[in-house]
Amino acid sequence: MIKPRLKIVIIAGTRPEIIKIAPIVYELKKSSWANPVLITSGQHIDILRQHLKVFNLKPDIEVSTMKEGQSLSLLTSKLFSTLEGTIKKENPDVVLSQGDTTTVMTTACICFYLQIPFIHLEAGLRSNDIMNPFPEEFNRKVASLAASLHLAPTLSAKEALICEGIQKEKISVTGNTVIDALYYARKIASQCRYPYDKKNKLILLTAHRRENFGKPLEDIFNMLKVLIKERPDVELLYPVHPNPHVKNIAHTILGNQSRIHLVAPLDYLEFISALNNAYLVVSDSGGIQEEAPALRKPILVLRNVTERNEAITAGVAKLSGTDPMNIKKDIRILLDNELLYAQMAHGGSPFGDGLASARAVDALAAFLGVRERREMEDFRFQSQSRTA
Ligand code: UD1
Ligand code: UDP
Repeated sequence: MIKPRLKIVIIAGTRPEIIKIAPIVYELKKSSWANPVLITSGQHIDILRQHLKVFNLKPDIEVSTMKEGQSLSLLTSKLFSTLEGTIKKENPDVVLSQGDTTTVMTTACICFYLQIPFIHLEAGLRSNDIMNPFPEEFNRKVASLAASLHLAPTLSAKEALICEGIQKEKISVTGNTVIDALYYARKIASQCRYPYDKKNKLILLTAHRRENFGKPLEDIFNMLKVLIKERPDVELLYPVHPNPHVKNIAHTILGNQSRIHLVAPLDYLEFISALNNAYLVVSDSGGIQEEAPALRKPILVLRNVTERNEAITAGVAKLSGTDPMNIKKDIRILLDNELLYAQMAHGGSPFGDGLASARAVDALAAFLGVRERREMEDFRFQSQSRTA
């Protein structure tokens, strides 16, 4: 008799969640035992659709929750009320979500209330500062409290969970699935189509963290405007996040400046090609801290703390903070000091080796008592691991 497949509901709401769950969906589809059901929460709309298309994913169920500039409480309440009924109706064996967004935090709570096993992908990231990043550090902790299986990307993430009292038997170190997605994209990424002068050094900028909204972001943008004026050999490419708190000041301060290219969010293939073309990256993003080192691109992190310390320790990323003068000093060093640039661009991928989704699905199979699991070894970073 053919055994029915186990129903794995996957819930994703934002751009990075789609990028990071796509390899899991593919891995589950390849298995003989899983029936993955993809639900999109609607936290993002435009940039979510853009990425579903890149990965050729079609949600089984789409929930609608986004409204321009809505508060975190309003978003959270909409997610609670819409996702609970959807999950109940699906009656899954487990629910899986990735990361630390409001979608993940509400999904985790709903699973806890309904007593459905919650699987947390990218578990154990901690900055140890509840206000940075805001509200993600809080969201991650809630997800960990509710999770029955913790898929930690690195050994440090596993250790952070153990410090919080999570039993080590419930944690698997998988690597980060963003590196699986990156290797896929790198194979097919198109040529960067932005009209910058190839003789110049390209700085790729992204910024969207809530704790940087307002004056910190304005000061950083003003500094970058001056820096690009002062340096005719440098250009700035900035795919602007659609959040109105970011979009409006980005266009006001950086719009219509020569050698500054403000563009709409890029799809993943375009973004990876831009990353490949960049000389250096300046960003407050989480995912880009993971991707840049795998492509040997030095990254200056626009934050005062990070939950991705592995990159700082490996010397491939630097915490430049939010003081514009400090960021400017760090950018200038990388533009002018070849030795220091080479030291940061030495490569290494502290966050994954391209096998994270296979390890994650193997750990899930073990959790569910599926017999055909592969018993894969944990991910461990070695500086000579597969890189660009
Ligand atoms: C969210 C996540 C953040 C993640 C980021 C990835 C929370 C609290 N924040 O931040 O952790 O790093 O996504 O990008 O979960 N918008 C659009 N179109 C879109 C997407 C967003 O117009 O496709 C605009 C809307 O006005 C929306 C606003 O951006 O209200 C903010 O979206 P929201 O998901 O609340 O926060 P992000 O800043 O995108
Ligand atoms: N990204 C993209 N297009 C863009 C900007 C970013 O595809 O224009 C990708 C990037 O490669 C990374 C992810 O989006 O994988 C990061 O998303 P974001 O910075 O919005 O969120 P975070 O990682 O900070 O949660």
